Amino acid sequence: MIFSQVELAPADPILGLTEAFKADVRKEKVNLGVGIYKDESGQTPILKSVKFAEEKLLATEKSKSYLGMEGVEAYNRAVQSLLFGSEHSVVTQKRALTAQAPGGTGSLRVAAEFLVRHTDSKKIWISNPTWANHNNIFSTAGLEIAEYTYYKAETHGLDFEAMVSDLETAKEGDLVLLHGCCHNPTGIDLNNVQWQQIADLCLAKGLVPLFDFAYQGFGAGVEEDAQGLRIFANTVPELIVANSFSKNFGLYNERIGAVTVVGATSNETVNAFSQIKSTIRASYSNPPAHGALIVSTILEDATLKQLWHDELKEMRERIAEMRTLFVESLKQAGVTQNFDFISNQNGMFSFSGLSKEQVNRLRDDFAVYIVGSGRISVAGMTKTNMPVICAAIAKVL
Ligand code: LMR
Repeated sequence: MIFSQVELAPADPILGLTEAFKADVRKEKVNLGVGIYKDESGQTPILKSVKFAEEKLLATEKSKSYLGMEGVEAYNRAVQSLLFGSEHSVVTQKRALTAQAPGGTGSLRVAAEFLVRHTDSKKIWISNPTWANHNNIFSTAGLEIAEYTYYKAETHGLDFEAMVSDLETAKEGDLVLLHGCCHNPTGIDLNNVQWQQIADLCLAKGLVPLFDFAYQGFGAGVEEDAQGLRIFANTVPELIVANSFSKNFGLYNERIGAVTVVGATSNETVNAFSQIKSTIRASYSNPPAHGALIVSTILEDATLKQLWHDELKEMRERIAEMRTLFVESLKQAGVTQNFDFISNQNGMFSFSGLSKEQVNRLRDDFAVYIVGSGRISVAGMTKTNMPVICAAIAKVL
């Protein structure tokens, strides 16, 4: 008998909330935990560009044979264009190679396994706070975790000075996890001058950046949101990107992302990439095709690509509208505390500053679910649920 020794796993801080939410029988419940986009009617829509691409695929797809370990070639090319722009030197010098992988989590895990097994990098610096799953992914893969300061509670802003001084203590070969845009959970991003400073620091100290890029297009726009990554690609010789299309194509359950390795030379990139492929082979052999074919079909067709850009803009603008409405509605609900800082945050989330106790009260007394860190998914707010949410927050403050 072996299972009698197994202890019950703690609930996942984000996905566990969805489980609890589903089991909640109260009628007026609101889930602002997991980062999923909802439209004004509270639905998570399938984008029109995705539906058109699927129709095209249904009519033209000829085989369900295995993909290569690295996935769909056209998709991997398209990923590089979105990340770096097609004319970037890392692309033209063949210093970047991309493998399709299952979502952001799968991409991070492949990257971490590769790093642990095939490089001397054994420690990764992650921001404090960060996405609740980062620690889990990296420690499970065998990386040692260190934290750099990112957020200053008193100002509800970035603590750039502390970030720099923490990273100054990192050692050559250490990895640094950076959120490409729309930092999860704070919604606070570096400006271009700060990106350059961190890139210079990484170059000077021989630190290797790993970008988690899951929200491209949810900040200022597809190109604008890639500026930090491109500054790094212009500055440091080596980096890795784990990106996801769960949010910006609404392809959550297709599990579609990619891991891109950039090496100092094309030869070194080829070697590193061969080990990325062997990591994939040992893990899930080769990826499923559907999500990648949707993305590449859209990005290779000028009309569908434009439609996708328009749909992404609509999602971005609706979230921005909810952000403003949230701040106003809190005031209307009688909250005197200043929440204006929420208007300056980027992406799907608002880092509210609510305490663990207040978060628990929101759930227990008002059926409003947010993450324990005080992270609220603004992308799940609508004009309809806003008054309920704000009335509940006003009561727990
Ligand atoms: C989130 O942060 O809510 C999303 O990235 C979903 C997840 O897997 O946690």
